[in-house]
Amino acid sequence: MTTPSDVPEPTEADLPLAGRTALVTGGSRGIGRAIALALAADGATVAINYRRDAESAAATVADIEALGAVGRAYAASSDVPDEVAAMAEAIQADLGPVDLLVCNAGIASRGGTVAQTELGELDRLMRTHVYGAFQLCGALLPGMRTRPRGDVVVISSVAARQLAAHMAPYGMAKVALEAMALTLAKEERNNGIHVNVVAPGLVDTEMGRRLVKGVMGIDDMSTLDASSPFGRVCRPEDIAEVVRFLAGPSAGYVTGQIVTVDGGG
Ligand SMILES: NC(=O)c1ccc[n+]([C@@H]2O[C@H](COP(=O)([O-])OP(=O)(O)OC[C@H]3O[C@@H](n4cnc5c(N)ncnc54)[C@H](OP(=O)(O)O)[C@@H]3O)[C@@H](O)[C@H]2O)c1
Repeated sequence: MTTPSDVPEPTEADLPLAGRTALVTGGSRGIGRAIALALAADGATVAINYRRDAESAAATVADIEALGAVGRAYAASSDVPDEVAAMAEAIQADLGPVDLLVCNAGIASRGGTVAQTELGELDRLMRTHVYGAFQLCGALLPGMRTRPRGDVVVISSVAARQLAAHMAPYGMAKVALEAMALTLAKEERNNGIHVNVVAPGLVDTEMGRRLVKGVMGIDDMSTLDASSPFGRVCRPEDIAEVVRFLAGPSAGYVTGQIVTVDGGG
């Protein structure tokens, strides 16, 4: 019979992110939630950010804590600078410097053409995806530079390369987000900070399901499994595993990269 004293203590190899503090924006649901749980499973303290769904945020924090990690939730809309500034200050006061930032919070655009789209929608997409991430980098990088290693991972999309019709605000926002990340990689390399981009294709989340319903009229995403690469639609965990690798010791010499996770297109 196994007794508690027979159970080995987790080693550094089991918890490669022990001692690190992560912030995952939009970490309450979907891809961000899966990333938050993967980082917590590797031993990181994880702050998640959300906009308004406090119930999902609390459930994700409970799941982080069930993994034995410290979890906290912070409400702030990434397109409201005062809220982002207050959140960055609160997280650092509560948990110390953030050395692993995942810029994941995002919204879809409405599907109009360039000619049909109001400037206000473009503004909202740019502020949500790009300005929030840009502002957070400014607020967190001074603390991150004091840590042995720093990571910034931004969640972009294959949309940044497809630049498909009817998706200009979303595609433009993701292109700008990638531009920020690849510039930052060059600026912060000498400070020990890695900056990488993960670009998913279609993923089974609320955003993915809404897209499939809107474009194809399909209610049940699993009907796309048979025609998808590897016989299934991409899951949030497929994206989370790539983020976990990029932020971990196995990717100690990787920066300034765009990793596409779309099953090969
Ligand atoms: N799903 C896909 O097919 C797909 C494909 C490629 C890339 N992506 C990208 O992956 C990221 C995550 O998408 P997802 O599919 O997981 O979306 P999701 O299921 O709709 O979840 C979005 C998350 O972002 C948060 N959020 C939305 N607007 C926010 C704001 N203004 N400020 C702070 N948080 C905000 C939401 O919080 P609340 O619930 O509180 O609003 C939620 O936690 C996005 O950047 C998206 O563009 C998704």
